[in-house]
Amino acid sequence: MQRRHTITTAPLLYNPEFPRSNRYDADWVLENQMGPNALWLMEWLTDAVELKAGMRVLDLGCGRAMTSIFLAREFGVQVWANDLWITPDHNWRRVKEAGVQDAVFPLRVEAHALPFAKGFFDAVVSVDAYHYFGTDELYLGYLSGFVRPGGRLGMVVPGLMREIEEVPDHLLTPQANGKVFWEDECWSFKTAEWWGNLWGRCGRVKNVQTAILSDGWRHWCDFERVLEETGRNLFPSDWQALESDGGRTIGFVRAVAERSDAESTNLYDPGIGLQAGADT
Ligand SMILES: C[S@@+](CC[C@H](N)C(=O)[O-])C[C@H]1O[C@@H](n2cnc3c(N)ncnc32)[C@H](O)[C@@H]1O
Repeated sequence: MQRRHTITTAPLLYNPEFPRSNRYDADWVLENQMGPNALWLMEWLTDAVELKAGMRVLDLGCGRAMTSIFLAREFGVQVWANDLWITPDHNWRRVKEAGVQDAVFPLRVEAHALPFAKGFFDAVVSVDAYHYFGTDELYLGYLSGFVRPGGRLGMVVPGLMREIEEVPDHLLTPQANGKVFWEDECWSFKTAEWWGNLWGRCGRVKNVQTAILSDGWRHWCDFERVLEETGRNLFPSDWQALESDGGRTIGFVRAVAERSDAESTNLYDPGIGLQAGADT
């Protein structure tokens, strides 16, 4: 069945901040979500990463490829929809159902083993995924090698609104459903300043800019409530913790940059020893 998601309004998820996302079927978004509303986050990201029809875009950690479909439909770009946990077979089915099979190409590759030519992409974008693989000093230098000079890189992740040394009690207290918001993995949530410093130290990009999504916690909380109300949550809902935090600690951070002319080396290439003449 060919479904055209941009003709259905989404009253359940209607949000005046995200007019493009409002055009997508709420059921489809809820069915394919893997965390906070990916379309809202991608829409915010594309405010800062200019996309033009025909561009080659890598959607890194695309999950169920909703954002890849969104990019193809909203901007007319070609999207390589890469994810680790979700198979290309499942994403291809969704891509075909959305009618964008000429523009979205699903694949499954670990983020440190990207199989693309140097400078292949006009842009790399990522929502709610970059913190799983991009917090070390080497990753951006590696990733930017796949973007042409002058191309753009951008990501949105859950982040900290301020540096913390200890986790606030309200994020460690069990919610009414028994779920504790904070898990060890949340230490990969960083502040905008932290991401700005990390990206700012990488010579292979320039014009680094970071931002915090205004009322990000509220958007996340609203989405979690809808998930719970509709029984579509994959995990017990976190709305209560997000509400008690009220944006003091948790929200969304965006980082964008332009690819510079500086050369890059693929430090994750297993053949690098051979190139260096080592006896491997
Ligand atoms: C929380 S999900 C978000 C998915 C999607 N972006 C969304 O917002 O719906 C994080 C995604 O990051 C991907 N991911 C995590 N580690 C990865 C890695 N090392 N390489 C590629 N993708 C990775 C996972 O496959 C997963 O789908």
